Amino acid sequence: MSTVETGALPTAVMPTSRALTCSIDERGIAWVILDVVGEAQNTLNPRFSGELEDVLSRLEKDGSIKAAVLASGKPDSFLAGADVTMLKGLRNAKEAEELSRSGQRVFDRLEGLPIPVVAAIQGACLGGGLELALACRARVAAEDPKTVLGVPEVQLGLICGAGGTQRLPRLIGIGRALELLLTGKHVKPRKAQSIGLVDETCPPSILREVAARKALSLAAGAGPGTRARRRLRPSARSKLAEMALEDNPLGRTILFKKAKKNVLKKTRGHYPAPLRTLEAVRVGIEKGAQAGYAAEARLFGESVVDPVAKNLIGLFFAQTALKKDSGVDDLNVVPLPVKKVGVLGGGLMGGGIAYASAAVAKIPVRIKEVDDAGVARGLLHVQGLLDQRVKRRSITPLEAQDMMALVSGTTDFSGFHGVDLVIEAVFEDLELKHRLLKDVEAVATAGCVYASNTSTIPISKIAEASSRPEMACGMHFFSPVHKMPLLEVIVTPQTAPWVTATAVALGKKLGKTVIVVNDGPGFYTSRILGPYMNEATFLLAEGVPIEVIDKALMAWGFPVGPLTLLDEVGIDVAFKAGKVMQSAFAARMTTPPVIARLAEDGRAGRKNQKGFYLYGGKEKRPDESVYGVVGVVPTKRPPPAEDIAERVALQMINEAARCLGEGILRSPRDGDIGAIFGLGFPPFRGGPFRWLDSEGIREVVARLDRLAQAHGPRYEAAPILRDYARSGKEFYPT
Ligand code: NAI
Repeated sequence: MSTVETGALPTAVMPTSRALTCSIDERGIAWVILDVVGEAQNTLNPRFSGELEDVLSRLEKDGSIKAAVLASGKPDSFLAGADVTMLKGLRNAKEAEELSRSGQRVFDRLEGLPIPVVAAIQGACLGGGLELALACRARVAAEDPKTVLGVPEVQLGLICGAGGTQRLPRLIGIGRALELLLTGKHVKPRKAQSIGLVDETCPPSILREVAARKALSLAAGAGPGTRARRRLRPSARSKLAEMALEDNPLGRTILFKKAKKNVLKKTRGHYPAPLRTLEAVRVGIEKGAQAGYAAEARLFGESVVDPVAKNLIGLFFAQTALKKDSGVDDLNVVPLPVKKVGVLGGGLMGGGIAYASAAVAKIPVRIKEVDDAGVARGLLHVQGLLDQRVKRRSITPLEAQDMMALVSGTTDFSGFHGVDLVIEAVFEDLELKHRLLKDVEAVATAGCVYASNTSTIPISKIAEASSRPEMACGMHFFSPVHKMPLLEVIVTPQTAPWVTATAVALGKKLGKTVIVVNDGPGFYTSRILGPYMNEATFLLAEGVPIEVIDKALMAWGFPVGPLTLLDEVGIDVAFKAGKVMQSAFAARMTTPPVIARLAEDGRAGRKNQKGFYLYGGKEKRPDESVYGVVGVVPTKRPPPAEDIAERVALQMINEAARCLGEGILRSPRDGDIGAIFGLGFPPFRGGPFRWLDSEGIREVVARLDRLAQAHGPRYEAAPILRDYARSGKEFYPT
C-alpha cells in the first residue's frame, strides 16, 4: 500500500494531529481513515469537516483512484456523532442553520463523487456518523457487539442536520426511517441489514476487505448500492401494507398524520424535536430533496436554540460529567477493585441487585437469606430476568447460563469471607440491620465495604453498630433495579473517601448513573419525594378528584401521577417513611391525614389491590370509596391543571433547593440528575435546578410566598432560594 497526501499536505505519512488520513493501495482503493487522535471516540467537529473537504478534493481529482473505503482507526467507534460542545458556541438559529447547511454541502459532495465510496462500519456509528455513512454509496458493518447504528439527535432535543432526515427515508422507507429518527434508538448490524440500512455484515477481521471488494465491484459497475436497490427489490421490505401506504400520496398523508398523532400522544406536546423531524421528512418526500434539505437546516437551527434542547443537552453533559466523577473531590483517591459482591436479602431489591452484579457488572455475587425458600426466591428473581432477556434475544441461552453461574446463595455467611463489598437489602428494620452488620463484620475481611440499601434510615444510625464505621455507606437503588438508572450513594462524615469511590465505581459497573449525597433523613430522592406526594394528598383533602390530580402532574411531564405513584410505592410504606420525615422535619413534613386514614383503612396500594385506584378491571379507575374514607366530597370545579401541578411540583423543587442549601447535595447537577433519573422529574424541564433558573428564582420565591399565605408554612421558600433571589445568582450561571 502506498501512502499519498490528502489535500495540500505533501507528506507521505499524515501528521498525527489530523483526524482523517488517506492512502491509496495498489488496487486503486483510497483508504480514508477516521481517527481523532487523543480521543476514545471519533466525533465530528468543524475541523473534521475541513479535512473531509481536503480528502474529497483528492478523490474528485485523482484519476488513479477507482473507489474508496471510509473506515475508522478505532475499534470501538466509527463516528459517534457531532461533538455536542460545538453547539454551545452557536448564538442563534441562523448560525445553527448555516452549520447544518455547510455539513449538508460536504456530505452532498461525498454523495456526488464520481467514484463509489463504501463505509466500513465498526463501533458506534451514530448521528452525524450515520449521516456520513448514508452519503456513501454502500455500507458494510462488522458483526461486533460494539457496532450500533442510529440517529439519537432527538434525545437531545435536536433533529438530524446533515441530511439524515432526507437520505434515511429514501434508503429504508419512510416508516422505518421514522422509527429510527423519532425514537433515536440504535440498531445492531444484522437488524441494520434486514431493514436495508447496511448492504452487508461480516466478521470484524475481514471488514476492510469486504468493504474493499464491495467498492471495487461497484466501481466495475456491478449494480447500485442499497439506495437504488430498495426500489428494485420491494419484497425485501416485510410490511406490505406500510409499503402500499408509502407509495402513494394519500397513503403518505395518512402515514404522517398517524406518526404525528403517536408523537403527540407519547410526548404530550412537550418535545418539539420529533415534530420538527417529521416536518423535515415530510417536506423532503412531498416537495423534493432540495426543499427537504432546506427544511432540515431551518428546523435544525430552530431546534438548537429551543429551551428543551438546552435542558436535554445540559442533562447529557451532566451524565457525561458523572461518568468521569469518582464521587470524591480528591483525585488521588483510588477505589477498591470489587471482585465479589455479597447481598443480604434476596427480596425485591436484593434479587435485582444480584441480577445487576451478575448480568451487567459480571461480578460473582453471593446472596444471604433467612432460609432455603428465601435463597430460592433470590435465585429465581435473577433467573427470571435472564430468561426474559433470552426471550427478547438480547442474550443467548449460553450467556444467560454463564451469568447465572455467577450467582450463589447461602443461609449462613459461608462465602462472605471473600466478598469485597456487601449490600444489605433486608427489611426496613434498624435492629435487624444492626444485627446483620455485626454478623458481616465478624466474617468478612477488615477491608470489606458495607453498604445499606435502606430507603429511609440514616446511614449514620445503621453505622452506629459498626466497629469500622468508616467502611459504611448507603447504596440506594430504585425499584425495579434492573430498569431504574439511578443509584444514590450516601456517605456519612465518617465514610472513608476510598469507600465512597468504591461504591461509586461499582455502581457504574452495575450500569447506573451515580450521585453521591450526604447522609440525612430521606437522603435526597426520598426527601424530595415526601412533600411532593404529601401535597397531592392535601389537594385531595381539598376535594380535588384523584384522577384530576394525577392527570395534572402527567400533563406537567411526570410519567405517572403522584397518587398512582403512592399506590405503586405502597401507602403503608409511605405512611412509615412519612413518620421518619415528620420526626426529622416537624411541621413542614407532617404526615397528611389522608395518608394516615388510608393506611389505617388497610389500603396498601397496588400490592393489596386497595388504594387510590381500583385494580382488576380492564381500565384503571379511581376508587370512589376513598373520598368517604378521607371525608371529602370531590369538587366538580377543580383548579386549573397548571395550578395543581405547580403546587405539587413546587414542593419537590423547594425541598431540592433545601437539600442543596444544607449540603445534602454536592451540586445542582446531582440534584437534577437525581430527580430526573430517580423520580421521573420531566427531563425537558432540565431538573429542579435548571427549572428554577429558567423560571427565574425571584419569581419562584414570590410564587412560594403567595402559596404560603394561602396554604400554610409548608410553602416557606428554602433559605438558599431567598439568598439567590436577593443576589440574582443562578444555579447554572452562564
Ligand atoms: P423485601 O421484603 O422484598 O425483601 C427483604 C428480604 O430480606 C426478604 O426476602 C427477607 O427474607 C430477607 N431477610 C430478612 N431478614 C433477613 C436476614 N436476617 N438475613 C437475610 N435476609 C433476610 O424488601 P425490599 O423491597 O427488597 O426492601 C429491602 C430494603 O430495600 C429495605 O431496606 C427497603 O427500605 C429498601 N428499598 C426498597 C425499595 C422498594 O421499592 N422496595 C426501594 C429502595 C430501597
